[in-house]
Amino acid sequence: MKHLIAPSILAADFANLERDVKMINQSNADWFHLDVMDGRFVPNISFGIPVIKAINKVATKPLDVHLMIEQPENFVEQFVEIGASVITIHYEACNHIHRTIHKIKELGAKAGIALNPHTPVECLIDIIEDLDLVCLMSVNPGFGGQKFIYNTVPKTRRLKDMIIVKNASTLIEIDGGVGLQNAEKLLQAGADVLVAGSAVFKSQDPLDTIDKLKNIGKQIYNV
Ligand code: DX5
Ligand code: ZN
Repeated sequence: MKHLIAPSILAADFANLERDVKMINQSNADWFHLDVMDGRFVPNISFGIPVIKAINKVATKPLDVHLMIEQPENFVEQFVEIGASVITIHYEACNHIHRTIHKIKELGAKAGIALNPHTPVECLIDIIEDLDLVCLMSVNPGFGGQKFIYNTVPKTRRLKDMIIVKNASTLIEIDGGVGLQNAEKLLQAGADVLVAGSAVFKSQDPLDTIDKLKNIGKQIYNV
């Protein structure tokens, strides 16, 4: 599978949100990455249900919703209702991951788990086959524009090994500080989905940056 590019709307111009959503519609990007923050799980508040509902009216590509909120199980129904195609909850923010993942799937969306930089991928060993996606945070969640944490590269490889050994079809998504400078290394390590906020929206030519990210060659990582 060719890798996917998911521009993060957190870095868009909120005063011109419709314009930026339409720009992504016309680009070679694959998904919209939408960061929901509650000011408790992460030290920041971003946007929530009404804004995503409005984005869904204009967006023509799948909505990849990254819930950086405590007790996400209380909200997954609403996010599916307003158009989420992928819902990712944090391992560190939910006591009943298995139940919540299956709830998301029963509702008809794809289900993902995100791991903070300090959380080892090995914690997923008993649930990896149930997951459509694992999001490895390559920054501490809460803000766009942070520096990429390099340990994410070997961590991606370890996760890829686990997926291969388990014969699972889980996608690996990398989120935070991703751009043209590290995309190739991440793809070689096994990444399938690259989230890019600042790298896309703060670049001179976002459409061209998306093209470049999309056209990076992928070499399959062999165990
Ligand atoms: C961070 C968010 C990211 C963020 C990425 O908490 O989960 O999705 O928007 O932004 P950049 O690409 O600017 O690091
Ligand atoms: Zn995110």
